[in-house]
Amino acid sequence: MRDNIDEILFSAEDILNRVTDMGLTISSDYRGLDPLLVGILKGSFIFIADLIRKINIPINLDFMAISSYGNNIDSSGVVRILKDLDENISERHVLIVEDIVDTGLTLGYLFQILQARRPASLKICTLLDRPTRRIVELPIAYSGFQIPDTFVVGYGLDYRQRYRNLPYIAKLRLKNEKNN
Ligand code: IMP
Repeated sequence: MRDNIDEILFSAEDILNRVTDMGLTISSDYRGLDPLLVGILKGSFIFIADLIRKINIPINLDFMAISSYGNNIDSSGVVRILKDLDENISERHVLIVEDIVDTGLTLGYLFQILQARRPASLKICTLLDRPTRRIVELPIAYSGFQIPDTFVVGYGLDYRQRYRNLPYIAKLRLKNEKNN
């Protein structure tokens, strides 16, 4: 295990099993609806890559990138869109795919923006949910794992742009950060 990794919360196998279940559920819920999955960059890229390979119905894929003002989301929850969708989502069944919902500020804002474009439906799928820190309540349709109030990295999630490549999700020990 790497020095700064405190504890593995979810192994690669745990994640694969859960993502497989989520993919099957989404497949049955969206059968015949030709959904558009929207990954929120960068954190969701590994999750959405695995998730769509467990979905056995036709889908479309698009991405959005949003700014986080350095490493913090502005407390107002107003985020800047760095990359908008390529597709028009009017009358489409849209599923937002996120790595983690924490305060909910980021997704709360995005949800409003996308809802204003009048999709046929708009739902949220997140790999991780940390409900203890929630400020903005969101309708989360699909959630992989609930996690406690601890910072996590791996499987796409970063700390200062590092650790995204870890195949598992782990607690980060921040005090030893300079040693690694
Ligand atoms: P929210 O707006 O507070 O819900 O924050 C969501 C975003 O913050 C996520 O998309 C992540 O990019 C980031 N984030 C929140 N918690 C963590 C964490 O534990 N590890 C890595 N990134 C996190």
